[in-house]
Amino acid sequence: MNAPSSAVTAAPRAPALDVARLRAEFPILSQVVHGKPLAYLDSAATSQKPRAVIDAVTRYYEHDNANVHRGVYQLAERSTALFDGARAKVARFIGAEPREVVLVRGTTEGINLVAQTYGRANVGPDDEILLTEMEHHSNIVPWQMLAGEKGARLVVVPVDDRGALRMDELERRIGPRTKLVAVTHVSNALGTVNPVKRIVAVAHARGVPVLVDGAQATPHLRVDVRDLGCDFYAFSGHKIFGPTGIGVLYGKAARLEQMPPWQGGGDMILSVTFERTLYNSLPYKFEAGTPDMAGAVGLGATVDWLERLDWAAVHAHEQDLLEYGTRRLQEIPGLRLVGTAPEKAGVLSFVLDGVHPHDVGTILDREGIAVRAGHHCAQPVMKRFGVPATVRASLALYNTRGEIDALVAGLHRVREMFR
Ligand SMILES: Cc1ncc(COP(=O)(O)O)c(C=O)c1O
Repeated sequence: MNAPSSAVTAAPRAPALDVARLRAEFPILSQVVHGKPLAYLDSAATSQKPRAVIDAVTRYYEHDNANVHRGVYQLAERSTALFDGARAKVARFIGAEPREVVLVRGTTEGINLVAQTYGRANVGPDDEILLTEMEHHSNIVPWQMLAGEKGARLVVVPVDDRGALRMDELERRIGPRTKLVAVTHVSNALGTVNPVKRIVAVAHARGVPVLVDGAQATPHLRVDVRDLGCDFYAFSGHKIFGPTGIGVLYGKAARLEQMPPWQGGGDMILSVTFERTLYNSLPYKFEAGTPDMAGAVGLGATVDWLERLDWAAVHAHEQDLLEYGTRRLQEIPGLRLVGTAPEKAGVLSFVLDGVHPHDVGTILDREGIAVRAGHHCAQPVMKRFGVPATVRASLALYNTRGEIDALVAGLHRVREMFR
């Protein structure tokens, strides 16, 4: 049946997100701080947790807790089913197979795992690892440690004055000695969204694998690792409204198969004698010791919760907050935004003339506003923009325009105090 012409010409609009209902799912958000309603604007550091996730972790400890993959009794079987089920949910959520999902402590551990296994096996003297100027320390230091050990070097792709990646420089700097491109999907300090799919295409055309740091992308974007085509993708449960202490390293099965294990211990083996050890299959080969079972179950509940969201509405809401926040902050005299790339997600980083970011953060706290002040574990990009630190308001799906108004009012107060 043909659609009526008016329906054809009307641009599809994302349905509005019911933010009040969403906020009611987060118990922590309704509290008062210093006599003011809490405005939590630090979700890039860690996100808050919905009731469904908190309850899943509590339920696990109250009803199902037993070690996984070893007991023959009912509780152990239940715990194992929940644990394996959580991995399957995560895999489906990112478009991977369960054996490609290695459960780790978080993004940092995922990147270190790749550096210590893929990296140690494949990177040698004079080889190069390509990073960008906007990386978090978690995607710099593991490579620096590897490079130091192997006599390899880091090659850094610059960003432009707005904080967008110089793709021309990236193409120019991938050379015959490049062994890996390690790039963040979204910058935690600038909010820049990198064109990861294009980066993967460019790198793969030269036979170079790509690791993506997805810590700041996964709270804002639906990620499909097959669509991106990357070889590795790391992210943290605690930044996607899930528990702390659990995260994911996705790796293409063919890559993971070829990589030696990292840590040795229980669960990562098939058999052990004093002469030799046979390693377990994927992904267990990379999961030594008792895993964070409650964390994994909580992560499974997080994925269930995320899958129930209307992502088009979430995206529209977050973009509205970002545009509104950008406009309102630019009205404040003496305020300079750091990071104004055309493609951005979730981050408003800025400096205020004559006021140290820590003072801004402390004064805002008295108004109930939680922001981050510092270098955001991204000192090289701070240097690039000529600042030691910024104030960072980072947004999540539960934030409101009202909270941005409170931030703006708080910043006017800061200015008055420092006049
Ligand atoms: C871009 C980016 N990468 C990596 C990390 C490290 O994440 P985690 O501390 O959860 O391992 C962070 C944390 O802020 C981040 O923002």
